[in-house]
Amino acid sequence: MAENETNQEDQTTTGGDSKTYRGPWGHIVRGMWRTPLGMFGMVLTTISITLMIVGVIVEILGIVHNPYVGIITFMVLPGGMIMGLSIIPLAAWIRRRQYHKYGIVKEHLQINLSDHKHRSFIVGFIILTIVNITVLVLVGYEGYHFTDSPYFCGMVCHDVMAPEYTAYQRSPHVKVACVECHIGSGASWFVQAKISGLRQVMAVVADNYSRPIPAPVEHLRPARDTCETCHWPDKFHGKKIKIFNHFTNDDQINPEVNEMALHIGGHNPQTGDFEGIHWHVSKDVEVSYLAVDKKRTQLARVRVKRPDGTEEEFIKEDIEVPEDEELEWRIMDCIDCHNRPTHVYDMPDEVVDFGLLSKKINPEIEGIREDSLIALQREYTSREEAESQIGEHLLDLQKLRSGEQVQKYEEDIRKASEYLVESYLNNVWPKMNVLWGTYSGHLGHQYYDENGFGCFRCHDEEHISESGNYIPMDCDQCHDEPE
Ligand code: HEC
Ligand code: HEC
Ligand code: HEC
Ligand code: HEC
Ligand code: HEC
Repeated sequence: MAENETNQEDQTTTGGDSKTYRGPWGHIVRGMWRTPLGMFGMVLTTISITLMIVGVIVEILGIVHNPYVGIITFMVLPGGMIMGLSIIPLAAWIRRRQYHKYGIVKEHLQINLSDHKHRSFIVGFIILTIVNITVLVLVGYEGYHFTDSPYFCGMVCHDVMAPEYTAYQRSPHVKVACVECHIGSGASWFVQAKISGLRQVMAVVADNYSRPIPAPVEHLRPARDTCETCHWPDKFHGKKIKIFNHFTNDDQINPEVNEMALHIGGHNPQTGDFEGIHWHVSKDVEVSYLAVDKKRTQLARVRVKRPDGTEEEFIKEDIEVPEDEELEWRIMDCIDCHNRPTHVYDMPDEVVDFGLLSKKINPEIEGIREDSLIALQREYTSREEAESQIGEHLLDLQKLRSGEQVQKYEEDIRKASEYLVESYLNNVWPKMNVLWGTYSGHLGHQYYDENGFGCFRCHDEEHISESGNYIPMDCDQCHDEPE
């Protein structure tokens, strides 16, 4: 129908009447919306723009909390708008090429400012362009912040990032955006991050990412570029008191308390020297190491450059350096100790001991520590299963001990199960193979025996230099001697 109509009109206009004579511009403008393709472009553009504006308002006012609103607003709709905008001139151009079909005059295009039609066309064109550009810039700006937000990182790939996002939400860094540690500032890291981000998104779509996500992160930006925008080594001085409470299955009431002053050091304001734990990252000090495994727990060589200019290399003979592999020396930075600055996972005994200390688990209940540990560490196939079964298991284990006790403490056992379920959900994702202890910390030496994590990777008195020095293990070098 529409085709017929235009044909007829075109025939009459080419008739020579100067008033209705449309000229080449007229045909182009008509081509934009009189052809199905042009129509499609216009509709697509209009719908995209309208929805984008709605989406931006929803995002800014925080009306809906759903990452898909953001994805559609900031990633899908701008694509639709740009596509629509490019289709419109394409449609006009195609129509003009078919001039013989529509009887279009093949004149050169001219802009005649004294013609009021041309003028209003140009003014309209400029206004529409300004509106379009404004909307695109606004959406681009908001979208840039959106893709950089922890919300995006954590929620968009919610299955994949759930462990990290959950741990992050109860860490001291919850107000620090993911990108501040994972990307940092500067254009080249930004580009690298977006490229690797794209690769990661593809891996998620193709469902071939590793479970668990491997740690350490191989190409994490050197911590000195990121952490040191907020924390700097000169600032560390003095000691930090830390208290560790441990219960045993035999004594659930009185914890063994280790109150310890950690020599966090770094800068000594009195002498101006660098010392203590943060000595490794202080000015003019460089510690580097050669690890033979991806986890960076087997350190075959350690090199140190001291502020006085001396250098020394310590070698651990037990660890063989494979000759066929190209291994890289790594300069030690914050992450080699603070590998869990924000994705902090607990160990089962820490969780249970904290429960006893805070009385979320009533320590009066006989055997509750042992039973809690068993219930927590059973293998559950999913988080849902754990949620529904931890309580039952705990109850069963308690019943084996004494039916009377179960009756007496029924309410307390239920409260304990709730706490255990919450702790489990904070730490374990069977689908991602993130289990108890999958991600261990290097900060002290509590997990040295099991996995080789922590300070004793180097401070084991087995890394020995040519002159017979070794990296020391004296307790009081790092903290006051425990009592
Ligand atoms: C305070 C800095 C910091 C912030 C903020 C941060 N991360 Fe991390 N993240 C790290 C460090 C450091 C590692 C590397 C751990 C390692 O190499 O062993 C890491 C590792 C990871 C890993 C690899 C798996 C693992 O647990 O080691 C993922 C995935 C991850 N982070 C996602 C996120 C997401 C998503 C956010 C925001 C919700 C975020 N991170 C916020 C510092 C941070
Ligand atoms: C954008 C700023 C920022 C960045 C970047 C940052 N942090 Fe922090 N960090 C903080 C804030 C804020 C706190 C909380 C201070 C407080 O609670 O007193 C904190 C606390 C800490 C703490 C003390 C935690 C505790 O339990 O007391 C450590 C350790 C730490 N950060 C290490 C790191 C490491 C390692 C990195 C780099 C991977 C890093 N931070 C990057 C801002 C930052
Ligand atoms: C040799 C290991 C090691 C290195 C390297 C290291 N730290 Fe620490 N850091 C520690 C230990 C151990 C503590 C105290 C333990 C704790 O707070 O749980 C600590 C404590 C901290 C604290 C808390 C201080 C306070 O007063 O509460 C911050 C913040 C921190 N480190 C940031 C950093 C940053 C940033 C870097 C890199 C520039 C870094 N650390 C490098 C081992 C290290
Ligand atoms: C990659 C190897 C490595 C790791 C891991 C490591 N250190 Fe060290 N550390 C060294 C070396 C090397 C020295 C210097 C030994 C020397 O000068 O003879 C040193 C020295 C120290 C010193 C003495 C600094 C001074 O006053 O001169 C302290 C304290 C210390 N480390 C604490 C720690 C703590 C705490 C951890 C774990 C959180 C840790 N180190 C992890 C390699 C390491
Ligand atoms: C290279 C430094 C270093 C050396 C050497 C060292 N420690 Fe520690 N130790 C630490 C750090 C750091 C922590 C704190 C870990 C944390 O913040 O979680 C710690 C924590 C502890 C704790 C408390 C942990 C807990 O869960 O109760 C005990 C106990 C302890 N050390 C005993 C010792 C003894 C005994 C020695 C001597 C054989 C020793 N350490 C040598 C660095 C060291």
